[in-house]
Amino acid sequence: MSTTDYAIEVTDISVSYGGVRAVDEATFKVPSGAIVGFIGPNGAGKTTMFDAISGFVSAEGGRVVINGTDMTNMSPTERARRGLGRSFQDARLFGSLTVAETLACAFERHTKRWGSDPVSAMLWFPVRKQERSVHARVDEIIDLMGLGAFRDKFVNELSTGSRRVVDLACVMAHEPSVLLLDEPSSGMAQRETEAMGPLLLKVKDATGCTMLLIEHDMPLVTGVSDELIALETGRVIMQGKPQDVTNDPRVVEAYLGTDERVVARSGAISNGRRKRKAPVRTAKPKAVKPKATAKKKAPARKKTTATRKPAAAAAKKKKTPARRAAR
Ligand SMILES: Nc1ncnc2c1ncn2[C@@H]1O[C@H](COP(=O)(O)OP(=O)(O)OP(=O)(O)O)[C@@H](O)[C@H]1O
Ligand SMILES: [Mg+2]
Repeated sequence: MSTTDYAIEVTDISVSYGGVRAVDEATFKVPSGAIVGFIGPNGAGKTTMFDAISGFVSAEGGRVVINGTDMTNMSPTERARRGLGRSFQDARLFGSLTVAETLACAFERHTKRWGSDPVSAMLWFPVRKQERSVHARVDEIIDLMGLGAFRDKFVNELSTGSRRVVDLACVMAHEPSVLLLDEPSSGMAQRETEAMGPLLLKVKDATGCTMLLIEHDMPLVTGVSDELIALETGRVIMQGKPQDVTNDPRVVEAYLGTDERVVARSGAISNGRRKRKAPVRTAKPKAVKPKATAKKKAPARKKTTATRKPAAAAAKKKKTPARRAAR
């Protein structure tokens, strides 16, 4: 592969916060047009890596090349202008805008007049050809993201899952060619998480976007990703096909833990015996029907302490990888 076959090339990137080495000489490549999952335990440095790629933190040496352009010394704005999109772990939107208004604002940077008059954008005055074109684009993105039913709802009326889809739609409105997604299923109800995988694949098909996806939900990330990159204490410990990575003893040890159900949900092999693959979404257990705004619950939490397996019991007490992976 030549260098242009890779949408993201990260070479020897390190980031420290005081004495904490959050990212430690990380090197990896993401092929153009691929979805690559970024997995690792809490505190492994995944979000910090995204911050370094998108320019929100300064790296100590190393290089970040996006679509063949060295962006190491560019500002976040310049990187975004050149097609690097980023969603954040905690989506922040204006609750008092409707979904359509929110997306219209997201298109603002593509529309000269609205660039100088954001009030018009918010008030939705359909007076000019330019604005009509924004209307059309809002309609397109609403259609692509399946947000038709929420178009005129206020953002603060939406479930966490729907808000995260609106946040993703806002990022997509900037037409990125490379998209960094930080835990898009975070805080979502189970059925919303199940819908996220097909949505990401649809977005990829429609836009050809390359995606680097941080995700703790193993069925979701293994289901959509062409490859996985596993990170531990800031270091890339493995990159490869999802099944190879989730079967690797280092990844099982560092992230998936010893809880058989977690390993099984990842599609990994344990004790020489093949466990079931990442479940087909429709075959997932539906023991609890969560409210739209409720956080999804892992089966492990429904068990009593007496019946819970050791890894899951420990995970309940502190926020361990096993617990997060079990969600
Ligand atoms: N702004 C900061 N100041 C100081 N330390 C930080 C800061 N941000 C992150 N860290 C530390 O850097 C390390 C990596 O954190 P990071 O948020 O990148 O991990 P993560 O893999 O995204 O974790 P999670 O899965 O919980 O989101 C952790 O030890 C964290 O405490
Ligand atoms: Mg994070």
